[in-house]
Amino acid sequence: MKYQTFHQPGPIPLQRPVRSRPEPAVPRRPAEHPPAVTAVSPGEFRQAMAAHAAGVAIVTARPGGVPVGLTVTSFTSVSLAPPLVSFYVDHASATWPALREADCFAVNILAEDQHELAANFARKGIDRFATCPGWRAGVSGVPLLDGSIAHLVCRPHAVADIGDHVLAVGRVVATELPGGRPLLYHQATFGSFVAGQCE
Ligand SMILES: Cc1cc2nc3c(=O)[nH]c(=O)nc-3n(C[C@H](O)[C@H](O)[C@H](O)COP(=O)(O)O)c2cc1C
Repeated sequence: MKYQTFHQPGPIPLQRPVRSRPEPAVPRRPAEHPPAVTAVSPGEFRQAMAAHAAGVAIVTARPGGVPVGLTVTSFTSVSLAPPLVSFYVDHASATWPALREADCFAVNILAEDQHELAANFARKGIDRFATCPGWRAGVSGVPLLDGSIAHLVCRPHAVADIGDHVLAVGRVVATELPGGRPLLYHQATFGSFVAGQCE
């Protein structure tokens, strides 16, 4: 029997175009010798962290009526509800034992012209508050430094030993926002923030 082929009238049935399938990805073999996990030296670690530009704050308190304070860049927000912030203090800090006794502390966010104050509050063996142009007592008598762009008054919330530092977490109970431009710290140098330079 002979088969005849007919040209079918009417619409040509739609056909899916035949696409060549992408080549299946070659499964990656785990490297036979993955790079070994090595420890970074303190110098390498410091250099890497120096690339991180940070705002500068002075944490103050007044346990027993004596004002104490130290400069930190480790200040950060932790939680919105409840409002929590934190900073880290070196175990070797002479200020921390007094600070941890306080029922209230303040984080004073420094303005760009307060670099000398930042340096003074990191200096040992001086009366840090004597170098301060002025301060006033906030909630619970906590020192609020004149000229700062923001003050966050906190109640101690938690502390934890982390490596060679203490993590101090505070619950924010009051804020004041005088405003202004922030002081930044980058590559061991103080500087200013320039807005609108991201093209
Ligand atoms: C810009 C800057 C940021 C600092 N940040 C921190 C910090 O986050 N935590 C800390 O423990 N020390 C920090 N320090 C060092 C302390 O301010 C300094 O070691 C401390 O004030 C020493 O005095 P003390 O023994 O009375 O605490 C910083 C110093 C500077 C200049």
